[in-house]
Amino acid sequence: MPVAKVDVPVEFNRVARRYEFLTGINPGYRRHLRLSASRLPAPSDARILDLCCGTGASTRAVLAEHPAARVTAADGSAGMLDQARRRLPEGRVELVQADAMKPAASGIEGPFDAILMAYGIRNMSDPDRCLAGLLDLLRPGGTICFHEYSVAESARARVTWNAVSIGLIIPGGFLTSGTTRIYRYLRRSVLDFDGVGAFEERLRAAGFTEVRTEPMDGWQRGIVHSFLARRAEAAA
Ligand SMILES: C[S@@+](CC[C@H](N)C(=O)[O-])C[C@H]1O[C@@H](n2cnc3c(N)ncnc32)[C@H](O)[C@@H]1O
Repeated sequence: MPVAKVDVPVEFNRVARRYEFLTGINPGYRRHLRLSASRLPAPSDARILDLCCGTGASTRAVLAEHPAARVTAADGSAGMLDQARRRLPEGRVELVQADAMKPAASGIEGPFDAILMAYGIRNMSDPDRCLAGLLDLLRPGGTICFHEYSVAESARARVTWNAVSIGLIIPGGFLTSGTTRIYRYLRRSVLDFDGVGAFEERLRAAGFTEVRTEPMDGWQRGIVHSFLARRAEAAA
């Protein structure tokens, strides 16, 4: 049975302990998270949400780029949050177990000056409903960054993605955690996700403004992107 979107956090519980090892040997993974975090303009004492924080790699990127920010990090997987707790500076980040489809119901209260969602939006069962919730969490004038794979509009990107996931990620997942389920889901979910133009259009349709896409370098060029968007300033 393929993994359903709503079961993704449970599947991550199974690989949580070895997840950072696998991402750590992926060249560029951590540097690219920092690049996306650095693309979020925010005041020095900003309130920043890292949604779908996993084991905290994206949260550490936020802390490195915004050292004085007040950071909330949320994820639906208790196992991933447990790893994040061990890897983040003690007392520095508020960690919350939350469903990104309904953050308010999980106790996440805005407004945030900035939001990072790294490898999260692709996993949402209803991305439009999720985007509506995220727009509500941002302060007027605030910026959101979706750090995400998007290959649908590029044949070259799809070929590279298939080669990397079949040749490296799926076998690497099996060797490190004894299961391929979540990594086979990863390959499929990336192939099925919006192309760059389609996701930009989805963001505009959700009410975000100043939508733009910035690239990564290395093998991820044209495959992983920073999708940046703002909530419009309140009318005077
Ligand atoms: C690929 S990991 C990314 C972790 C981290 N942002 C990083 O960059 O390393 C995706 C995370 O999204 C979480 N996730 C997936 N669906 C979710 C949902 N509906 N609500 C909250 N978290 C979710 C998973 O539990 C997992 O930890």
